[in-house]
Amino acid sequence: AGAPGRKLPKLAFNPVAKSLADAVAVPEGYRYTVLYRLGDPIDGSVGEYQNDGTDPAESFALRAGDHHDGMHYFGLGPNGKHHKNESERGLLCLNHEAITPAFLHPNGPTVVGGVRTVAEEVLREFYVHGVSVVETVREGGEWRYRRDSHFNRRVHTLTEMELSGPAGKTPYTVTKYSPDGSRTRGTVNNCASGSTPWGTYLTCEENWAGYFRRITAIDNPNRSARELAALARYGVAGNGRELWATVTPDTPDDLYGRWNAMKLGSSADGSDDYRNAPNTYGWVVEIDPFSPDATPKKRTALGRFAHEGAWLGPVRVGHPLVWYMGCDSRNEYIYKYVSNAVWHPDDANGGMAAGDKYLDDGKLYVARFDADGTGRWVELSFGVGNVSPANPAYAFADQADVLVHARLAADAAGATKMDRPEWGAVNPRNGEVYMSLTNTNAASRPLSRLDAANPRFYNDRKTTGQDQRGNPNGHIIRFAEAGGDVAATSFKWDVFLFGARATADAANVNISGLTDANDFSSPDGLWFSQATGVLWIETDDGAYTDVTNCMLLAAVPGEVGDGGPRTIVSSDGTSTRAVDTYVGKAPGEENLRRFLVGPKECEITGVAETPDGKALFVNIQHPGEDTRPDFATGTFGSHWPDGGLSRPRSATIVITRADGGRIGV
Ligand code: FEO
Ligand code: CA
Ligand code: CA
Ligand code: CA
Repeated sequence: AGAPGRKLPKLAFNPVAKSLADAVAVPEGYRYTVLYRLGDPIDGSVGEYQNDGTDPAESFALRAGDHHDGMHYFGLGPNGKHHKNESERGLLCLNHEAITPAFLHPNGPTVVGGVRTVAEEVLREFYVHGVSVVETVREGGEWRYRRDSHFNRRVHTLTEMELSGPAGKTPYTVTKYSPDGSRTRGTVNNCASGSTPWGTYLTCEENWAGYFRRITAIDNPNRSARELAALARYGVAGNGRELWATVTPDTPDDLYGRWNAMKLGSSADGSDDYRNAPNTYGWVVEIDPFSPDATPKKRTALGRFAHEGAWLGPVRVGHPLVWYMGCDSRNEYIYKYVSNAVWHPDDANGGMAAGDKYLDDGKLYVARFDADGTGRWVELSFGVGNVSPANPAYAFADQADVLVHARLAADAAGATKMDRPEWGAVNPRNGEVYMSLTNTNAASRPLSRLDAANPRFYNDRKTTGQDQRGNPNGHIIRFAEAGGDVAATSFKWDVFLFGARATADAANVNISGLTDANDFSSPDGLWFSQATGVLWIETDDGAYTDVTNCMLLAAVPGEVGDGGPRTIVSSDGTSTRAVDTYVGKAPGEENLRRFLVGPKECEITGVAETPDGKALFVNIQHPGEDTRPDFATGTFGSHWPDGGLSRPRSATIVITRADGGRIGV
């Protein structure tokens, strides 16, 4: 099945040792340079970053944001257009998922009595979130970003966006800002990403719900049962993680108050308030990096949830386009979107109009993993199965309702609740899809609720003595569409890899036979090199951090079904349970090696490469985020990358080989 087989790559580097140092470690024969850090200017009019909390809020409209995350490299030709195979000059698109507020202001965020009292600080945070597009070039053997490129762009929480597709311009998206529901302001919590065959970037809104203020005790008592069910299912409750809505006085255009999702206006439909503002987040957003003035579009046909990313399946002329997606929360689902239009190569130059064709009109599916090693894609269309007005938990009204409330539709469809779906990646050799299930805990998946696709429960005891019960190290599942057809409604699956300490019980915990050369925990970023076929695995871990900082590993995977069935015996300390599952062949050190370890308290996330495979871009997110800073003495959890007493900065690094060869092989 799938595309013609290519020779498997051979890993050719010495594994990097686990490390707790405040540094980036790469293998012998490799080097890295810091390319693009929090605050770096992307326009000649903006000065160097002071990195002491004094840089003006508006200046971040032309500076790098924080928490670098999902990323993509688009080759840039001499004519200013997308050139797929250009490896010396490209547009790097990257997400700025979130912020470490402590490092952004002179003394961290100012909060008095639960209220943000310095509007400038909140405005700065608005700009620091979002996306960067930066022109990146290799000159004289060195990679740098061009500060003065006219392609450079920041998209942030103030950027106007269009709500496109079936849920746009509907009563669900009506706000005071856009009484016809066609628009919203900005994007937030952009986690992973994706791309299209026409050279645009997809940025995905993940934990947006937490930014909204909605105090259930004082929320409008007249909300319908349907509204309340939806708000609860999406977790729209609380003060808002950065307290943005608490700034007073507000501006005439509700700059701050729009984050207040409580019903405040007098209209019946929400057109004079922001009760529906949460419905305008949680989407996949398309940005055309080659058209810096183009309005980004939220593509509602791909459903609304905690979007981790959107990964393009194999592209074949005359076949639909598909994107695989995860909803990153414990017990959430894996989804697939299938376009109704079939791919025509002329659309490779279509820009956002191609997006209108392929991303606004299609079918959404959710995955069910069965205990016999097969699975089903269950369609989420209004009137199909339980996704109807007759559904007892939530009566669906129309397709816009299904898309705005995709999580409720997936519940109705009987999808399989997973151990926190993070990134996906599609193997260019055979079209098989890998999805990381980063981890879960005992409360979210007790022993009694294990299933074949989420089969482990154990105690990963830290060397510092702390118990960690559940599946704290996570796993990577993979599946192959029936007949290699991207539009298939069934697949077969197995577990490619289980995270574990090398020292853990080999029978039931360290099932993949990990050693000191490749043991890891909490897989998150996943990415297949198109040039070499290597699968890159990144970690976002808190479980194994007593032993090592987060890391990047290189893998050479086989294929679904290369291992076989087995039984895993789990224990919560009082009882045991045996679960039958399907496990891939243990890769061994030959096919799985640690390639990089990051600085203290960081997550390794976001990865991209040049088409020739000779430069690998990697994001180091939030070094030093866990330690309470001491501004007086300049003591921070990390001083990476600038060293000395500097505040730490999220940054993109670029890795090359001393001899100029391809990375990892
Ligand atoms: Fe933003 Fe799912 O990590
Ligand atoms: Ca992630
Ligand atoms: Ca994560
Ligand atoms: Ca993070």
